[in-house]
Amino acid sequence: MYRTHTCGQLRAEDVNRTVTLAGWVQKVRNLGAMTFIDLRDRYGITQIVVEEHSDEATKAVAAELGREFVLQVTGKVIERESKNPKMPTGDIEVAATSLRILNRAITPPFTIEEHSDGGDDLRMKYRYLDLRRPPLQRAMALRHRMAHAVRTFLDKEGFLEIETPYLIKSTPEGARDFVVPSRMNPNQFYALPQSPQTLKQLLMVAGYDRYFQIVRCFRDEDLRADRQPEFTQIDCEMSFVEQDDVIDVFERMMRYMFKEILNVDIPEPLQRMPWIEAMERFGCDKPDLRFGMEIHEITPMVKGHGFSIFEDAEYVGAIAAEGCATYTRKQIDELTEFVKRPQVGAKGLVWIRLDAEGNVKSSIDKFYTPDELKAIAAKCEAKAGDLVLVICGPKFKALGQLCALRLEIGDRLGLRDHFKFAPLWVVDFPMFEWDDETQRFYAMHHPFTSPKPEDIEFLESDPGRVRANAYDFVCNGTEVGGGSIRIHDPKLQALIFKVLGFTPEKAEEQFGFLINAFKYGAPPHGGLAFGFDRMCSLFGGADSIRDYIAFPKNNAGRDVMLDAPSAIDKAQLDELYLDLKPVE
Ligand code: AMO
Repeated sequence: MYRTHTCGQLRAEDVNRTVTLAGWVQKVRNLGAMTFIDLRDRYGITQIVVEEHSDEATKAVAAELGREFVLQVTGKVIERESKNPKMPTGDIEVAATSLRILNRAITPPFTIEEHSDGGDDLRMKYRYLDLRRPPLQRAMALRHRMAHAVRTFLDKEGFLEIETPYLIKSTPEGARDFVVPSRMNPNQFYALPQSPQTLKQLLMVAGYDRYFQIVRCFRDEDLRADRQPEFTQIDCEMSFVEQDDVIDVFERMMRYMFKEILNVDIPEPLQRMPWIEAMERFGCDKPDLRFGMEIHEITPMVKGHGFSIFEDAEYVGAIAAEGCATYTRKQIDELTEFVKRPQVGAKGLVWIRLDAEGNVKSSIDKFYTPDELKAIAAKCEAKAGDLVLVICGPKFKALGQLCALRLEIGDRLGLRDHFKFAPLWVVDFPMFEWDDETQRFYAMHHPFTSPKPEDIEFLESDPGRVRANAYDFVCNGTEVGGGSIRIHDPKLQALIFKVLGFTPEKAEEQFGFLINAFKYGAPPHGGLAFGFDRMCSLFGGADSIRDYIAFPKNNAGRDVMLDAPSAIDKAQLDELYLDLKPVE
């Protein structure tokens, strides 16, 4: 037997017991007469003491130990002289009677403790060492508990977990596919699923009316803190349902998760905010409702005063930054630089300062009287001591920039508390998004999303105004999940493909399998998928999903530990009938 207890288990009640522990040496402190060893496993740390009167063999092993050696210790649990209330095992220590080195370790490239001295890149390269650290172990344990809770809830609700293939057909919509060449079918490629969307719809045709899967998805897109090229979804689909039925089940699932995992009660029912309202009040479709500072449109109030930038703008909007009237010139310049960054893209920032006495001062004093400026500030619900920040431009662009500014101010003011949760549903998304570059409409969600019945009449005449039966679960400014009611009527599906610019032949080529299946009796159906990694980081109070994935990729999509992707040899290429082009 390698161990009788874990390194996180022993307490005062265990004093006088003879125990055997096994783990990694975190630290060795040699105080001459005595040696203290911190022995770690994923359950905790136990202090081992090699006393002066220990036998020579034990002392010799202790003298040899280095960081991360794998060690087996047998000894007696004794009460500590100086207790450590910060450690669960802090009342005791184990007086070693025997030490056995199970394996040696070379010096690790960074400290393996709660806070490491290793930089990001180094810790990614030695991810297996980083994973020994308590924060990552807590993250992995949280992820496990969350997956378990999801399965418990959905099982009780009658959902079946069904696996779908990873080698599927490439479809053009959405992000880029990762593709896999087929040796047995020369010059043909599988694609890795961006999600099991079409497959779960086929499962509905097959009669599995409540399906779910905790499933890996693959998307070749630009990465950010909340995006990985492979990520995990809690993917769900239901038959014989309308939007309210889907929202009901998954709102209950989220309520269960918040309670079970965090002991947090979320409101019942959750707020449902139409997409256009989210855009106009918060500037984006994933509003962070942990704080106010909403966006207000002031277009009519600022026109006709000779300030050419506003005269030419389609939209002028503003937020009142709470208590920021004391911002110095330098701080305002910083905010201006922030909104001008390419990622935000504003041309500039206008400010109106409402000081503690209620006097106004502004960067556009020349064009507006103090009373006019005060009226604008009042429209933005500014109070004395606030700083009104104004951005103008094409409506939805300016709104997006105001959203970024609002979140930045929220961060600066510490209003985005990780352990405060503000979930909501965003509903009534537009069906289509116009793309200037390619001069065509794209499905905002995906091409199988059903339009609102009352908007179907505008499908051909005015696609831009058609709303979808689509919904997102949003929390703290993150889109945690999203889904829709699907089209089950082949005629309507054909019409949507037409609006999206697919010829009937192209639609048949891409989605023939689905269109065909629907001819055999497709039930009305709908569903959604949660981003499981995002859900874990939200519940863990983190910004990045990386720490909740055992082996993530870096921002360039590389696994620096495995050194992937990498070249393959000529023989492998030949087998696949592949030639490589030189990189320009
Ligand atoms: P969607 O594309 O909105 O919908 O994805 C669902 C959820 O998956 C998460 N997500 C990601 N997480 C990490 N890295 C990524 N690259 C990434 N991309 C998406 C988000 C998102 O809300 N088939 C539909 C769902 C449906 O209609 O049922 C779908 O995939 O949290």
